[in-house]
Amino acid sequence: MCGIAGYFGEKENTDKVLISILEKLEYRGYDSAGIAIKQGKKIVFEKATGELKNLKEKLKGVEFEKGGLGIAHTRWATHGKPSVTNAHPHRQGRVYLVHNGIIENYKEIESFLKKRGYKFSTDTDTEKVAALFDYNLKQEKDSQKAFEKTLKALRGAFAIVAFVEDENQLFLARLSSPLVVGVSEKDFYIASDALALSNFSKRVIYLDDFDYALVGGFGFRHFSFKDGKQKTSKIEDFDESLTSAEKGNFDSFMLKEIYEQPDSIYSSIAGRIKNGRAVLGGLKDVEKELESAKEIHFVAAGTSFNATLAVKDLFESLGVPVFNLLASEAKYSKARVREGTVAFFISQSGETADTKEALKKYKEAGALCLGITNTVASSIARETHAGVYNHAGPEISVASTKAFSSQIAVLILIYAKIKELKLGLERKDKTLLKELQILPDILKKEIKKIDKKAKEIAKALKKANSMYTLARAGELALAFESALKIKEISYIHAEGYPSGELKHGPIALIEKDFPVLMFFGNELYEKTFSNAQEVKARGAYLISVLDKTHKDAKKISDRYFELNYIKSKANIILQSLPLQLLAYHLAKEKGLNVDKPRNLAKSVTVE
Ligand code: AGP
Ligand code: GLU
Repeated sequence: MCGIAGYFGEKENTDKVLISILEKLEYRGYDSAGIAIKQGKKIVFEKATGELKNLKEKLKGVEFEKGGLGIAHTRWATHGKPSVTNAHPHRQGRVYLVHNGIIENYKEIESFLKKRGYKFSTDTDTEKVAALFDYNLKQEKDSQKAFEKTLKALRGAFAIVAFVEDENQLFLARLSSPLVVGVSEKDFYIASDALALSNFSKRVIYLDDFDYALVGGFGFRHFSFKDGKQKTSKIEDFDESLTSAEKGNFDSFMLKEIYEQPDSIYSSIAGRIKNGRAVLGGLKDVEKELESAKEIHFVAAGTSFNATLAVKDLFESLGVPVFNLLASEAKYSKARVREGTVAFFISQSGETADTKEALKKYKEAGALCLGITNTVASSIARETHAGVYNHAGPEISVASTKAFSSQIAVLILIYAKIKELKLGLERKDKTLLKELQILPDILKKEIKKIDKKAKEIAKALKKANSMYTLARAGELALAFESALKIKEISYIHAEGYPSGELKHGPIALIEKDFPVLMFFGNELYEKTFSNAQEVKARGAYLISVLDKTHKDAKKISDRYFELNYIKSKANIILQSLPLQLLAYHLAKEKGLNVDKPRNLAKSVTVE
């Protein structure tokens, strides 16, 4: 995880560039931040725990000139607690270095270097890399060779930016963690994410796995550390608009992104439904394989995984086995990937390490690998055989909301496409796609009412420290997503469960006033109603998400969100508004920072 920033150039204030890039990368981690700037012979080196503002505070009054070079970092700790000592950049000898990822063989490197007189003051894996580079600088005359040798010795995942105190150049490298360089004449801007560079340059070079580069007065030199050969860099235009990465009138990105859903769903489906058919340019070249797909696998993490659960039953209706796999488990599953498997990798960021690792396994096994990502040119978008972008606009809040609904919308389109390919046009799902098209208007109409209700209910639940979130069959994804969202931002323990399963054990926890959030669906209403009665009979405080026709459920509920359900699967997007807004208001009630929940980061780029 974590965000990396770098700058080499003439025209900018190095400190301002680095801070501005870090501000846009804070979503990747905010345990600590640090900076190292070299201007002539002078080096300013500063670190602070907590959010970036603490580092800014420390830099107040420090004089900087224009130009020079610098590196900076906002951390999400993997090795060693968040502290000033463990914050990046790490310095060993002549080397200053920032790193994103995990070095798996850091213990070996540590003992190798200890024998050669190195001392370590941090608990991080990163400090060992800085030391190894310093050691190699002593062995090799040429610093490029020393860097390449260092990279070859590392196992794990990394994006690295470093400099040597008496040299005027930056050293960059990438293996499984993203790194992008913005180019503007003689100035170079480096970040973990192209979006963070858009104030400076929209012409970018993406480093690929096993790439390393040198940036200096000579320009940009691109190499591979696999074979040591020089590479020709491809400069690409990055055109994602940054406008929606501003909070506007909302108090948080999360609330803004929840309210954006009518628009983000509209953009996700715009131009993709024609004459009642799904049209997906990104899948054009793989239609044959989709038609003959023998198994469908969905691989994703967290909320993206829940989005795949939301459409499981739809895809199952195509008559092929459907498997929903948590990315962190998928890679290590012993099950053989069978011939004819089509695997979808769903990821808002397109950078989730677990999902990327699973993708490698499926690719090696020969499956057709398709990406569904919200981030243009992200690793998953680039490494899959084909795919569909979400076009939901940048999602900044750690809690994923508009990406979830957009993923479901895109998955519905993909389902409609595969259905047409497999079963022919006459079996097309008219209602489903029609309802998907009217959904943005429905959400627009309902959202304020749901928001108000969620606020009231959150007040009533203020003191709760544990709850169940229940649903069944086609709506089960909502139970899991509610529990994730509530835990993630309000720190209330919430457990998502199939409501029919409660009687097999978990119902033992129900006592007077134990909160239960229950989703009533278009299907299995009566069965869910019985489950609601079971918890009510034991004193539960029942909050229901239901349709206006669900009169009996309304009667036994302590509180409810009454919605105007639509008939098709698209309804699940409408049903997710209450859970998102409830989680938001629960966190607000407790005075928490909804956009930056503790221990988390937006993009989880470590396994
Ligand atoms: C959701 O609110 C989470 N913050 C998290 O579960 C997230 O969905 C997960 O880490 C996957 O991220 P991705 O979609 O970028 O791969
Ligand atoms: N492993 C490094 C650390 O713990 C970097 C972690 C990250 O990528 O955020 O500091």
